[in-house]
Amino acid sequence: MAAYAAYRMPATFEAVRSALEAFADAVPGWTPGSHVDVGGGTGAAAWAVSATWDGERPVTVLDWAEPALALGRELAAANPALGAVRWHRSRIGAELTLDDTDLVTVSYVLNELTALDRAALVDAAARAARSVVIVEPGTPDGYARVIEARDRLISAGFHVAAPCPHSAACPIAPGTDWCHFSARVSRSSLHRQVKGGSLAYEDEKFSYVAATRVPAAPAPARIVRRPQIRKGQVLLDLCETEPSLRRTTVTKRHGDLYRAARDTDWGDPWPPAADA
Ligand SMILES: C[S@@+](CC[C@H](N)C(=O)[O-])C[C@H]1O[C@@H](n2cnc3c(N)ncnc32)[C@H](O)[C@@H]1O
Repeated sequence: MAAYAAYRMPATFEAVRSALEAFADAVPGWTPGSHVDVGGGTGAAAWAVSATWDGERPVTVLDWAEPALALGRELAAANPALGAVRWHRSRIGAELTLDDTDLVTVSYVLNELTALDRAALVDAAARAARSVVIVEPGTPDGYARVIEARDRLISAGFHVAAPCPHSAACPIAPGTDWCHFSARVSRSSLHRQVKGGSLAYEDEKFSYVAATRVPAAPAPARIVRRPQIRKGQVLLDLCETEPSLRRTTVTKRHGDLYRAARDTDWGDPWPPAADA
C-alpha cells in the first residue's frame, strides 16, 4: 500500500487537480462547503480539492480497504490545510448511500467496479451531491466509463461544467477516438528509483467529467489535443458547442489570438477567458 502511494498518488492527485481546476473555472462563484471522496484510498482527491479551493471543509473519504485509509490518515496529518478528514470504511455497491454533500469525487474507481456497481455509485452520487467530478484513466475504456457516467448524471438533472462546452451527446463516434487530457507529474527521487526512470516528470493521461446542479458557465470550446505549433501558425483541435469537433488554424495575422494560441495547452478553454 505504501508502494502504491509512492507510485500512483502523485499522478492521480495531479489528474484530479487538473479536472477540478477546469471545473472551478466554470463555476467561479462556487466553493464546495463539504466533500465526499468515494473509493478515495489514500485521499488524493481530498488533497486536490484542498489545492483547488481555499479554506477548510468537512471531508469524508470512503473506501473498503482499511490499509489505504490508514495510510491516507497518516499522510494527511502532514497537511494541515486538509482540516478534519473522516476516513471511513464503506463498500461501493447497490446498498451504498451517501450523506448529502456539495461535492462528490470518484477518482480512478469506476474501472475497479462491475457495471452494476458503477451505476449504483453514480446514482448514489447524483442523489447526494450538488456537484460530481469523476476521473478515470485516459484510455478508450476509461473514456467510455466517463461517458456512461456523464449520461447518467445528465439524466439525473445535472449539467456538464467541464470538460465539455455543452451537455448534449459527445460528438465522438463510439470506438473512433477518446476524449482525454494530460497532467504533468513531477517525479520525486523516490519515484524515479521506484520506476527506474531518469526523467524529472511524467505525463498522466486522464478522462473526466465535472457535472453540477449549480449554475455553471462551461468554456465556449475546449482544446482536446496537444496544440501543434508550426512556423507562423498554431493548429488547435477544438470541441465546440454545436456540439462538434473542429480543427482551427490560428496564424500570425490573428495578432493577440495567435500569441494566446502559442501559450495555450491541451485541455485549456478556447478562446482564453480574457479574449472570450
Ligand atoms: C486505483 S485506487 C484510487 C484511489 C484514489 N481515489 C486515487 O485517485 O488515488 C481505487 C480505490 O477504490 C477502492 N475500491 C475498489 N472497489 C471498491 C468497492 N467496491 N468499495 C469500496 N472501495 C473500493 C480501492 O480500495 C482503492 O482504494
